[in-house]
Amino acid sequence: VTRMSDLDLHGQRVLIREDLNVPIDDHGRITSTQRLDAALPTIKAARDAGAKVMVLSHLGRPKEGQFDEASSLAPVATWLGDKLGKPVRLVRDYLDGVDVAPGEVVVLENCRMNIGEGKDDEALSKKYAALCDIFVMDAFGTAHRAQASTHGVIRFAPVAAAGPLLSAELDALGKALENPAHPLLAIVAGSKVSTKLTLLENLIGKVDQLIVGGGIANTFIAAMGHSVGNSLVEPDLVDAAKKVLADAKRRGAEVPLPVDVVVAPEFSANATATVKPVDQVRDGEMILDIGPETAKSYAALIAKAGTVVWNGPVGVFEFDAFGKGTETLARAIAASPAFSIAGGGDTLAAVEKYGIEHDVSYISTGGGAFLEFLEGKELPAVAALKARAGQ
Ligand code: 3PG
Repeated sequence: VTRMSDLDLHGQRVLIREDLNVPIDDHGRITSTQRLDAALPTIKAARDAGAKVMVLSHLGRPKEGQFDEASSLAPVATWLGDKLGKPVRLVRDYLDGVDVAPGEVVVLENCRMNIGEGKDDEALSKKYAALCDIFVMDAFGTAHRAQASTHGVIRFAPVAAAGPLLSAELDALGKALENPAHPLLAIVAGSKVSTKLTLLENLIGKVDQLIVGGGIANTFIAAMGHSVGNSLVEPDLVDAAKKVLADAKRRGAEVPLPVDVVVAPEFSANATATVKPVDQVRDGEMILDIGPETAKSYAALIAKAGTVVWNGPVGVFEFDAFGKGTETLARAIAASPAFSIAGGGDTLAAVEKYGIEHDVSYISTGGGAFLEFLEGKELPAVAALKARAGQ
C-alpha cells in the first residue's frame, strides 16, 4: 500500500484519520493520552512537511445527526494545541470544505456525529474525500470498522495512504505473528472464553505456547475436571476449551494450566486471599488470580520466548491482593529479550500500573482492532488501502 512517507505533502490538503478516542472524565479531562501520544508524530510530520492538516476522529459513540457536547473533541484539540505550541482550531461544520493554511493543523469535530458515518454511507464518504488531496488512514484502533471515515473515504479520495502509526502497528503485529522468532508465546486472558474463542482457535495454529488466564482459565480448569467453586466460568464453553486443548496437542503447542490459584470468598479489594492447589477449590470460593508456583513457571517460559503477544491480565490486578500473577508476568515480559507486543485496554492499564511501558517492545493502540488482527481477520480499512494499491 502507499505510505504517507512516500508522498510529497507540501501545500496539499491532507486529511488524517486518527483514533483519538481517549477516555475523558466528568470534568472534561483526558485520563490516558496513550492514543494521542501515538498519533502526534504523524500529525507533526504532516505539519512539518507544509501540509494543510485536517485531523479527523471519532470519540465514543454519539448519536448521528446531532451535536453532543460530551463527545466533543474539544479536549483533544486543546491537548494538541499544547503539544504543537500553537492553538488548534476545532471545526464543527466542515463537510462542505475547510480553509486551512499550509503548516496549520485543525481538528474536525467527532465524525460519528455525521449522518451516514456508521453505515459507511457513500455520499458521506465522497464528502470526506472532497475535503482533501490526500487521505491518510492512521487510525489502527478503528481499522476494524468499515465506516465512512475509515473505509468509504479510501475508495474516493484522490490519493489514499497508510499513515506511520498504522504502518508501525501492522509491521509489529506482522513481525509477532507472521514471521515470529520462536518460541512464540501468547497470553490470552480476560473474563470470557466466548469473546476470545476465535482468537484462541486462530492462535493455537501459530503459537508454541499459549497461556490462558482470568475467567478463560477457569473454563479450562473446569475442562480438566476440577471444581472452580464460585468462580466466573462458562459451563457451555467447557467443550470448546477441551477442543482447544486437543487441537494444541495435535499441533504440538503447549497450553500450561495453573497448578495453584489465589481464591477469595468474594470479589472485593479487601477479601482475604488464599493460595491453594488448583484441584482444591471449594464451593463458595472464587479464583481471582494464578498462584505463585504457576506465575513462576509462566515467567520462566516468558524468559525463554522469542516472541510474546500479551492480551489480558491473568487476575483481578485492580485489587493488589489479586495482582501478583499479572505483575509477575508483566515483569517477566519486561525482563525478557523476546520481541513483545501488548494490546487491549486492561492490558495497557496493567502495563501502566507496573510501569513497564518502556520495556515492552511494542504497545498497540488497538483494542478491538488488535483482537481482530490476532483472530486472523482482515481489517476493512487495510483491505481498502490494498484495493486502492491494486493488491
Ligand atoms: C476503540 O476504542 O476500540 C476504538 O476507538 C473503536 O471504538 P468503537 O468500538 O466505538 O468502534
